Amino acid sequence: MNCNNHRLSNIDECRIIEMRTVSHANGKLSVMENLATAPFSIRRVYYLYDLPAGTERGGHSHVVTHEIVIALNGSFDVVVDDGKRTKRVTLNRPDCGLLLPAGIWRTLDNFSSGSICLVLASEKYEESDYVRDYEDFKRLTADK
Ligand code: TYD
Repeated sequence: MNCNNHRLSNIDECRIIEMRTVSHANGKLSVMENLATAPFSIRRVYYLYDLPAGTERGGHSHVVTHEIVIALNGSFDVVVDDGKRTKRVTLNRPDCGLLLPAGIWRTLDNFSSGSICLVLASEKYEESDYVRDYEDFKRLTADK
């Protein structure tokens, strides 16, 4: 397992990325482009929806996958954790994404009714890329 991203991860790198948005009288269009607005090549897109009230998602970190999380509809919070510090970020705009570099533990909660969480990922789905046990995460980030 490549543990370097966990040793180096820093919640200060979990920044908001503003998408280029084209506004017209007949609506808006927001764009995320590989290696331009997104600091990585997007290889996978998935989204969370039909989220029951009070549900919590995430609860893991990734070994190599970088992600951008966007509140396509409604709002929710993302709690990011680098093993040393945590912060809570509220997402409620479809033209802004939160960058989650590899090695960051994330938990998503506080979903508003009807919210949709779009995720752009740098890698295809691979279960071996997940760290799902918080004690394992703490071990991987212990050197900070
Ligand atoms: P998981 O990433 O744990 O969801 P979340 O972080 O949103 O709570 O994934 C939930 C389930 O879906 C898990 O069994 C793996 C599966 N899954 C895929 O098959 N492909 C994917 O691209 C993703 C993200 C998850």
